[in-house]
Amino acid sequence: MDRIDPWTTKQIDISRIFQEFGVERIDPLLDKIPIKHRFVRRRIILGHRDYDKVLNAINKNEKFAVMSGFMPSGAAHIGHKMVMEEIIWHQKMGGDVFVSIADMEAHAVRGIPLKKCREIGIREYITSIVALGLNPENAHIYFQSENFRLRDLMFEIGIVTNFSTMSAIYGFSGDTAISHISSVLAQSADILLPQLKEFGGARPVVVPVGFDQDPHIRLVRDVADKLRRFQVELHDGYVRIRNKTADNDLFNEVYERVREYEKVKIYQGHIDILDLKDATGLNEIEEIVRKVEMDNGYYGFYPPSSIYHLFVSGLTGGKMSSSNPDSHISLLDKPEYAAKKVKKAKTGGRVSLDEQREKGGDPDNCSVFELLYFHLIEDDIKIERIREECRSGERVCGECKKEAAVLIEEFLKDHQEKRKAVEDTVESYIKRLR
Ligand code: TRP
Ligand code: SF4
Repeated sequence: MDRIDPWTTKQIDISRIFQEFGVERIDPLLDKIPIKHRFVRRRIILGHRDYDKVLNAINKNEKFAVMSGFMPSGAAHIGHKMVMEEIIWHQKMGGDVFVSIADMEAHAVRGIPLKKCREIGIREYITSIVALGLNPENAHIYFQSENFRLRDLMFEIGIVTNFSTMSAIYGFSGDTAISHISSVLAQSADILLPQLKEFGGARPVVVPVGFDQDPHIRLVRDVADKLRRFQVELHDGYVRIRNKTADNDLFNEVYERVREYEKVKIYQGHIDILDLKDATGLNEIEEIVRKVEMDNGYYGFYPPSSIYHLFVSGLTGGKMSSSNPDSHISLLDKPEYAAKKVKKAKTGGRVSLDEQREKGGDPDNCSVFELLYFHLIEDDIKIERIREECRSGERVCGECKKEAAVLIEEFLKDHQEKRKAVEDTVESYIKRLR
């Protein structure tokens, strides 16, 4: 089994993530999503872990949170815009928002001074996400290095995480810098932070990310489990509460709380409830036990949920990268410059115009079509028409690129105006949690 390295720009094979790492397809959940963002309508978001828990909370009007993070190492490009849109979309569906600027990670892994990270974080990420429509009044926006609740939590996470686990997931070895390892703990802490009591307590949290971030999600879900005192399991015909790390007092308190069920048996390390036989019963007990944990100052974490979107391809082919300006469209690119890049982009067109007219182009391998599909055209009928026109040879690349260039120019102009309008106030929304 190969590893996925979140710090390189290698393309990854998505089908493997489903098969080997247990990410699930999002399709069966589509009906339950109240606002159908174009990313789900178009299957740009393809996979998830435990997203059903979040959807249940949304549909029952219960509390949930959305959290993601950005490493302030360079320009925010339209790939980052996808995460920003996903956060905003979940805020609209009722989620509490957490946005982490991962300056500890950028500092440790990319060698960027913290002061520079702060500048980049505000300019590239925070200003843009607010300009795109995030309501910052109801959001926790913070820098990792300035959040001491996060740093305390990192330490706790470090207690239940060992080096073998880390190296199995990330390939860390003896010469990996300790603070690189530490920055992974910071990301786990980012993701668990919304479930701390002072930030709203244990509840479902969705983390929208690209597929490359899945190793972090696997790790944090494991950590969330390890920090629980009990495990509740559904067995054949009964529900079992297994004591993992609780002391006698806590164990007895759980027993007191479930005694009202009819057939309850207590053993040395577990309690069985024989009148509960299905998932509903399991959930019921899970919530009782979680509450006992929380009432006694423990975390009671839910394993965080995630949704995964496809990568945006670079305009020059390969993956879109922050460090190569030709490959990306940054949210701060001069609109005319972005338009120029689109006109030079790699397409799925044929070598000659005649051949294209005759055989048609390949929109599914075209960075210009992708730009339209992911970002620039909201209307589903229109985008499908463009796809067909391309395939049939009716549409040719020159015209098509011009159309996309105009749209990107318009988008960036508008976005940059909106940025101006919020620029002066964004800093006031950053939470220093010392
Ligand atoms: N590691 C992520 C990246 O490189 C950034 C990140 C930090 C993050 N904390 C996070 C992503 C929490 C999701 C959730 O882009
Ligand atoms: Fe891409 Fe448009 Fe050319 Fe088709 S016509 S290959 S969509 S640029």
